[in-house]
Amino acid sequence: MSGVKARSWIKVKEFVGLPKRDDFKIVEKELPALKDGEFLVEGLWNTVDPYMRSNELSNKLGSPMPGGQVAKVTQSKDKNFAVGDVVLGPFGWTSHSICDGPASLMKIIKLDPTIPLPQSTALGILGMPGATSYFGLLDICKPIKEGETLLVNAAAGAVGSAVGQIGKIKGMRVVGFAGSDEKVAYLKSLGFDAAYNYKTIPSLEAAIKESCPNGVDAFFDNVGGDFFDTVLRQMNTFGRVSVCGAISQYNALEPRKGIDVSSITLIVKQLKIEGFIVTRWLDQWQGAFKEMAQWIQEGKLKYRETVFEGFDSMYDAFVSLFKGDNIGKVVVKI
Ligand SMILES: NC(=O)c1ccc[n+]([C@@H]2O[C@H](COP(=O)([O-])OP(=O)(O)OC[C@H]3O[C@@H](n4cnc5c(N)ncnc54)[C@H](OP(=O)(O)O)[C@@H]3O)[C@@H](O)[C@H]2O)c1
Repeated sequence: MSGVKARSWIKVKEFVGLPKRDDFKIVEKELPALKDGEFLVEGLWNTVDPYMRSNELSNKLGSPMPGGQVAKVTQSKDKNFAVGDVVLGPFGWTSHSICDGPASLMKIIKLDPTIPLPQSTALGILGMPGATSYFGLLDICKPIKEGETLLVNAAAGAVGSAVGQIGKIKGMRVVGFAGSDEKVAYLKSLGFDAAYNYKTIPSLEAAIKESCPNGVDAFFDNVGGDFFDTVLRQMNTFGRVSVCGAISQYNALEPRKGIDVSSITLIVKQLKIEGFIVTRWLDQWQGAFKEMAQWIQEGKLKYRETVFEGFDSMYDAFVSLFKGDNIGKVVVKI
């Protein structure tokens, strides 16, 4: 069996600035018949994430783009995987994949059919971005006292929107920044105490002073660059900074030089600034998802998805992240 043609998005040029359509090629390849112990999956949902922009983290030139995929088993010669099972795996931007041997199986998990949430959430709120929000906030920003002020940017995105809501669940005062009036309205609907369109306010510094009259205790940074420096200058003593992402810098042609804040400020304010990669907590993800699923069912944690239709829309979905077109998690329905 097999007789299936797989289509894949191959990266054919290193990215310079915003990735271009002709940095990619779609190729088609006939997959071989399955051997014993193998099974074939067909993609249902793909994720696109900002890290894929990195020339270091995306696969080598000539290889399919990487990334998580929710897929269904359509042929199987592995007794542990039956036709019809739905799995999450690192199959990348590929329509069909053959999964072989223990090395690939280690990274494949069966979705629990009893979880009453759409399968696509395994790529978003109950997937890598959800874990990023949960651990990046709770382990690094560490909400300490009721009423502390949390500031988050890219706040209407997959990570930021969950960060703000988890902050609210933990009793924080939450201020969000995002790039459109529609996003600001969305943040307010989620219960953010204040929200701003950073593209139209006259001064970021003035907006922070207005919305954080007692200063910023915790800062979850998704954006980097000037935004990072401006907030850092307004942190309170013993403030905690979770350095999650720097999306303002990913397409920059010239890498920005270091942080433009005096180290004396960092010393005097005794700030804790910590970068992280979410896989640090991989062994704890499932526990976090259980708690987050409970919050979703109780109506305390809401999520949105921006859905692109069809495998051919992978590129459009990917660059939408850098144009700020999305609210919540960007996924592609294959
Ligand atoms: N450390 C980790 O382990 C880890 C894991 C996952 C994600 N991340 C990081 O977390 C951040 C958010 O990721 P996500 O998946 O949730 O994406 P996302 O927020 O859903 O989408 C990206 C958003 O970034 C904003 N943006 C794009 N270009 C920008 C620029 N030049 N300046 C300011 N904002 C810009 C846009 O929103 P606006 O309309 O608000 O501009 C856009 O909607 C990214 O930096 C990502 O790399 C880190």
